[in-house]
Amino acid sequence: MCGILGYIGNQSKTVDVLLQGLTRLEYRGYDSSGIAIIQDGRARVFKSKGKLSKLKTKVKKHSPKGLLGIGHTRWATHGDASQKNAHPHVSGGTSVVHNGIIENYLELKNELKKKGFKFYSDTDTEVIAHLIEDTIEGGLCFEDAARAAFERIEGSYAIAVISDKDPDKVIATRKFSPLILAIGDHENYLASDVPAILPFSRKVIYLEDGDVAVLERDTISITDIDGKHVSRDVQEINWDPISAEKCGYRHFMMKEIFEQPRAVLDTMRGRFSEETGDVYFEGLDASLFKNVNRIVALACGTSYHASLIGKYMIEKIAKVSVEVDIASEFRYRKPILDNKTLAIAVSQSGETADTSEALLEAKGRGATTLCITNVMMSKIARDADGVIYTHAGPEIGVASTKAFTTQLIAFYLFAIYLGRIKKQLTKKQSIEMIKEAISIPQLIEITLKLDGRIKELAKEFFKYRNFLYLGRGINHPIAFEGALKLKEISYIHAEGYAAGEMKHGPIALIDEDMPVVLIAPGDGVTYKKILGNLQEVRARRGKVIFLTSDPGAQELQGIVDKVIEVPDSSYLLSPIISIIPLQLLAYHIATYKGTDVDQPRNLAKVVTVE
Ligand code: AGP
Repeated sequence: MCGILGYIGNQSKTVDVLLQGLTRLEYRGYDSSGIAIIQDGRARVFKSKGKLSKLKTKVKKHSPKGLLGIGHTRWATHGDASQKNAHPHVSGGTSVVHNGIIENYLELKNELKKKGFKFYSDTDTEVIAHLIEDTIEGGLCFEDAARAAFERIEGSYAIAVISDKDPDKVIATRKFSPLILAIGDHENYLASDVPAILPFSRKVIYLEDGDVAVLERDTISITDIDGKHVSRDVQEINWDPISAEKCGYRHFMMKEIFEQPRAVLDTMRGRFSEETGDVYFEGLDASLFKNVNRIVALACGTSYHASLIGKYMIEKIAKVSVEVDIASEFRYRKPILDNKTLAIAVSQSGETADTSEALLEAKGRGATTLCITNVMMSKIARDADGVIYTHAGPEIGVASTKAFTTQLIAFYLFAIYLGRIKKQLTKKQSIEMIKEAISIPQLIEITLKLDGRIKELAKEFFKYRNFLYLGRGINHPIAFEGALKLKEISYIHAEGYAAGEMKHGPIALIDEDMPVVLIAPGDGVTYKKILGNLQEVRARRGKVIFLTSDPGAQELQGIVDKVIEVPDSSYLLSPIISIIPLQLLAYHIATYKGTDVDQPRNLAKVVTVE
C-alpha cells in the first residue's frame, strides 16, 4: 500500500502541500518517496530512497515552484526500495504516481520496449507513464492519452498523472485502491485518503472504481472512462488529524482487521491463472524447489501460528513433509538439515532477530531458504534464496492481524505452486483450489459483519481473568493465535490447546470462572470430537463460546453460552475465517478493559533483540 497525492492551485503552496501531505501518508509506506512539479512548462522530478526527510532536504535545496504537482510515498511491491524505483515515474513530459498492482505490466512493458521505450525501473508503474507518452506521441491530447492508458491497464490502482503538454491539469483514476478529491478556493487536491488533505480542506469527494477525475484550479470534472459525466457527493469531514490516519477507526488494530479482505485480495492478485490453475510468484526461481523433500518452517509468535497452519496446507496439497520450529529454539538445537531441505522463514517485519538467525543457521547447514514477509527488502528477505511478499501494507498495530491472514493465503498459494512442481495435483485440482481462494475476501467481509455481536459478547466476558481456547486439526493453531491476541492486548491470561489435549491436563482448569472458546468449523472429521469436548466442559460448569460454520449449531444455544456462526469455506482455508471473530473478541475485550490496544505494555512491533 502506498500513498499518492496531487495538487493544483497556488504556486507558492505546491511544494508545501505535497511534502506536508506525504508526511501524513507515511504510515501507508515509507521506503522511498518523490514529487513531480511542472515549473515554467516542464516537469521537475525529485525522488529519494529512505525516509521522507531525505526527500524534503533534496527539494528544499532546489526550491522548485509550480502551479501543480504530484507526490508519492512508497511501500514496495514490485522492485526493491531504491531511488530508481521511487515514484513519480516519468516518460517524456509525463509523470505518474500509483498505488496498487498492475497485473498485466509485463505484457505492456514488452509491447512498449518493442516500440523503443527505455525502462529505468523494476516497477509495474512505469508502464503507465510510457503508455501515456506513447499515445500523446500518437497525436492524442493529454487527457485522451491518459484515458486510453487507463483502459489498457488491469489490476488495482489509484493513479495521478501530470504532463508538460497540458500543464493546467492533474488527471486521476482508481480501481480497487482508494482515492479522494478535496476542494479548495481556486485550488484542488487529490490523495489516497483523508489525512493528507485534512490541513487544507474538509470538503471531500470519494471517487469510485472506474471514475476519471480532471482537476484544474477552479474546476473538478468526474467522468467514467468513456468521458460520460458522473456525479459524486461532496462530504464534510469532521475527523481530527490523528483519527484520520486511522480512517475514523479508534485504533490501527481495528482498521487493520477491517483491511483484511483487501489485504488478502492484494496478496493473491496477479499470482494465479483461473484458467490454467498455475500459480506464480514474481522473482521466485522454481528450480529452488525441484529437489526439496522436506520443509522446516521457522517463525515466532503469530507468524509461528501461521506456519503451523501452512504445514497442513503444504502436506495436504504438495505431499511434502513439514516441521514447524519456534525460531529461538531451532537456532540452538543443531538441527539436522541437508540440501534437500527447504527452510521457510515467516516474518511480518522481516527483521525479527530469532527468525533471522534461525534462517542463517538453516542456510549454514545446507538448506535452501525461502522467506514469507510483508516488508520489501527486509533483512530476512535479503538473506533468503527466495522471497514471497504478502501485500498487506504497513501493519501498525502491535497485535498482528492482516499480516497473519495474508501469510495464510501466501502459504496456500505456495502449497499449490509446490504441488504443481512436484506433480502432486492436477490442473483441474489446482483450478478448484484457486476458486476456493478467490471466495475468501468476500467470506472475510461477511464474517466482519459479526462485529456488533462480538462487541456484545466481549461486554459479557471482559471481566474474566483466564480463558482457554481449544481447536482441532488445521484450526488448532487458531486456538493458539486467538489466545495470543487476547493476552497481548488485554493482559488477560489465555491458553490455546489442541482440544484432544483437554483430558491430558487442561480439563482440571475448567469451572464457571474459565470461559472456553471452542473453534469448530464444520469440517466433519474432528467436528464430532469437538462436540465431545463441549460436553466435557459443560459437565464441569465451564462457560462455552462455540465458534462454528455449522448452521445446525444454533440448536446448541442453551447448552453453550454463545454460538458464533461463521460462513463455511474449504477446510484448508477455514482458519482465515475462524480467526476473524477471535481478533474482534480480543479487540473489544481490550477496549472494555481500557488497555493500550495499538501499543500494549512490554511489547514492541518488531523484536530485533534475542
Ligand atoms: C503478534 O501479534 C505479535 N506482535 C508477535 O507475536 C509477532 O507475531 C512476533 O513478534 C513475530 O513478528 P514477525 O512476524 O515480524 O517476525
